[in-house]
Amino acid sequence: MCGIIGAVAVRDVVPILIEGLKRLEYRGYDSSGLATINGEQLERKRAVGKISKLEAKLKKKSLSSKIGIAHTRWATHGKANQANAHPHFSKDNIAVVHNGIIENHSKLRETLEKAGYEFSSDTDTEVIAHQIHYHLKQGKNLYAAFLASLAMIEGTYAIAMISPLMPDSLFAARRGSPLIVGIGVGEYFLASDAAALISVTQRVIYLEDGDIVELQRDNMTITDMAGNPVERIEHISKLQADAVERGEYRHYMQKEIFEQPQAIIDTLEGRIHNGRVLEAAFGPNAGELFSKIEAVQIIACGTSYHAGMVARYWIESLAKLPCTVEIASEFRYRKPLPNPKALVVTLSQSGETADTLAALAETKRLGFGPSLAICNVPESSLVRASDLVLMTHAGPEIGVASTKAFTTQLLSLLMLTVVLARRRGMTAETENQIVTAIQSLPRQIEKMLTLNDSIEKLAEQFADKHNALFLGRGIHYPIAMEGALKLKEISYIHAEAYPAGELKHGPLALVDDKMPVIAVAPNDDLQEKLKSNLQEVNARGGQLFVFANHSSMKQGFDYINVIETGEVDEIISPIIYTIPLQLLSYHVALIKGTDVDQPRNLAKAVTVE
Ligand code: G6P
Repeated sequence: MCGIIGAVAVRDVVPILIEGLKRLEYRGYDSSGLATINGEQLERKRAVGKISKLEAKLKKKSLSSKIGIAHTRWATHGKANQANAHPHFSKDNIAVVHNGIIENHSKLRETLEKAGYEFSSDTDTEVIAHQIHYHLKQGKNLYAAFLASLAMIEGTYAIAMISPLMPDSLFAARRGSPLIVGIGVGEYFLASDAAALISVTQRVIYLEDGDIVELQRDNMTITDMAGNPVERIEHISKLQADAVERGEYRHYMQKEIFEQPQAIIDTLEGRIHNGRVLEAAFGPNAGELFSKIEAVQIIACGTSYHAGMVARYWIESLAKLPCTVEIASEFRYRKPLPNPKALVVTLSQSGETADTLAALAETKRLGFGPSLAICNVPESSLVRASDLVLMTHAGPEIGVASTKAFTTQLLSLLMLTVVLARRRGMTAETENQIVTAIQSLPRQIEKMLTLNDSIEKLAEQFADKHNALFLGRGIHYPIAMEGALKLKEISYIHAEAYPAGELKHGPLALVDDKMPVIAVAPNDDLQEKLKSNLQEVNARGGQLFVFANHSSMKQGFDYINVIETGEVDEIISPIIYTIPLQLLSYHVALIKGTDVDQPRNLAKAVTVE
């Protein structure tokens, strides 16, 4: 998704902007660009593709300036080409970069065209630049023109603007898209993500919706849309530079898969005491809010949605609370019936997914019960908008395909289940057993990671495949869905997941000797039933790849690969079985030579609808 970085300093900011853009690469983008002020002139460089292309252009003709804005673009309005890359200019005296979507851009564009403005891109962003220029022409100063333009915009934005008319000021505004001010010594920075600022400062201010900021080398002014000054608190970002380095690993995704034992340890820290999950881990007033709830409504997107689907099995069977799980983009427009006694649980790695934020807002508007965010980014919009918060301490996740965020979400949801179940009569003995299983997770995940080499070999059999079917039953059906999502995201193989019992109602028609069928088959109540489903595949010549506790699964099958996981405690088995599926998709993608960390067309944090 689009990224913004800006700086105003006594030193040359171009290297800072480039470094920031590189740190934003993980969000996913298709072009990039930067603009600076040189004397009375705006200067700009833009390039399609990787940041290295932009750097190559800067090598040919370098830029140098004490103020600048830069952007990585992920196409929404208009193709991924140079003309559409940001920054966008108006009449060579306004430069803007923008994240978000301007919903009334066509109308604004029409009016501006009538007023004589010529557009050089298909983007919604360009209207902002011309709109500001238009207000300048009406006699407003730059700040007033900026405010007047924002007032005309319908939609979401994080915007940064520079102009030679005020060459020492960087203006920015936020509504619905994240924006952070970085505070240096005699310099200020701006970014859509704290990761972009890691090499220049840890001192940050999270702007709120409706904030307008003017940054100068030695001064910062934040106002609301009416121009009234507002106070925002300074935070120290906990992001560590080395946490976002790849180190010895070939890809961030690989690093993040192997970091899972530590991510689990970090997420558990301080949350379990004397064999019990601490209710206060969810917030000081968690007890009071949890005491009133009679249902759970989970809302999320993508991989986070799959975590929610797993949790439904835990919450209904252990906490005996009705639980519904819904994709945020569907929930927000469905006109759901409000349940004031339902705990709204939002799941999000980034905490900035536009649909999840909007769905949460919708639950508030409709009158659902209290909200709990399970999230990986502190101070994110989702965290700030929720009554209760449980942070997954997975550390920065850079690979677009989510791995450690997913397993730490599952762990967090299991801890939530225990806390809710205890209130509804779960015995201390059962809680103790679950906690013991939870505490064995890092060790058990380590064991799964030792399957790496055998899965690497297995992956060779997928390289020439165009389709794959993932099967699971019960709580492992969402794990099959997550396995299929991982494979399609990074290897571009079409993959679908089905609850194995549903095979005979359609997907069996697809099975032939070219169709790999991957099954998640732990030793649970449904294993025998799953075996019969796999026999249906076997009888049609399908190639079976089965993740099971024991190789005895092989018996009675013609073409079968069994990947032995060993005995796994049933309650944590969805978390454990996720690991070999992540490794499988990673190795298939490696063989196929795709861009593992930044798969085509995808973004890490989807901050637009
Ligand atoms: C994007 C990412 C996915 C992620 C989804 C939800 O599509 O590529 O990996 O699962 O957004 O993101 P969230 O940050 O809300 O978990």
